[in-house]
Amino acid sequence: MTTNIIWNQILTDAERRELIYSGNIFLISALKSTSKMSDYAFQVLCDKFQTNEPETAFNHLPVEEFAKTVEKVKNEFTNSLYSKELIREFLMEIDSDPKEYFFDVPRIRIVPNYDYLHAGISYAYAPHRDTWYGGPSYQINHWMPVLPIKPEIAMAVWPNYFSTPVQNSSQEFDITYWDKVQRKKAVENIKVESRPHPLPLEEINTESELRIAGNPGDIMIFSANHLHGTVPNRTNRARFSIDFRTFNKSDIQTANNSVNTDSQATGMDGDYLRQMFDANTFSPATSSN
Ligand SMILES: [Fe+2]
Repeated sequence: MTTNIIWNQILTDAERRELIYSGNIFLISALKSTSKMSDYAFQVLCDKFQTNEPETAFNHLPVEEFAKTVEKVKNEFTNSLYSKELIREFLMEIDSDPKEYFFDVPRIRIVPNYDYLHAGISYAYAPHRDTWYGGPSYQINHWMPVLPIKPEIAMAVWPNYFSTPVQNSSQEFDITYWDKVQRKKAVENIKVESRPHPLPLEEINTESELRIAGNPGDIMIFSANHLHGTVPNRTNRARFSIDFRTFNKSDIQTANNSVNTDSQATGMDGDYLRQMFDANTFSPATSSN
């Protein structure tokens, strides 16, 4: 399969979605909204780590203290009204109508050196599709770096698996149970990741591996059905990135474009909307229609 990278072409919302659902990846350089989002994330990082160089802070901190600070950063960034406003602004900037979307609050990922910490709040994701974690296949993923990123610490995508099934353990993943029990355990997992993430059960052929090294605010938009994961960070600088998910409401109603390549995760009935918000009003997705 050929994977197209569509670069700085905004297109219409309907055209873009169709291309995303068939595996195309969009890259859009430094929009106003995404630049503001990465600036805001960096400001929260500087504030909580009390330094102008939060990317090297972990080198001087005991890992328990680092984990506590990461949790503070995540809570502030994820739950702020400003982050939600920036997602709405982003949708408008790419010619989508916020009234037609739900979004999941944006997350900030902090990936220090792998040997320092790769579990819990800084879990280094093994190759996965978000559908293995209970996301529907019409989920649209967004990812951007907070600081200029080098390929050796970027996120990896393996586009050759977009429509090729991978043996995996998603049948053991129940999103309702995960949200109620496992998600809270992130901060307890310092040495070893004990939470049962869905994992590939076969070796991944990495020949098609794609790593995109962008600047702050450069956003990558791709289908939740793409196989992707964290490149282990072997450097002495932490990787900071932002990710968030959107659903177009019409896709939820029709389950349009659902291509379930290989996920057997359970518990999705209504529950995957639990943490989503209306992109126009910010009211919880489960209370609006
Ligand atoms: Fe993911």
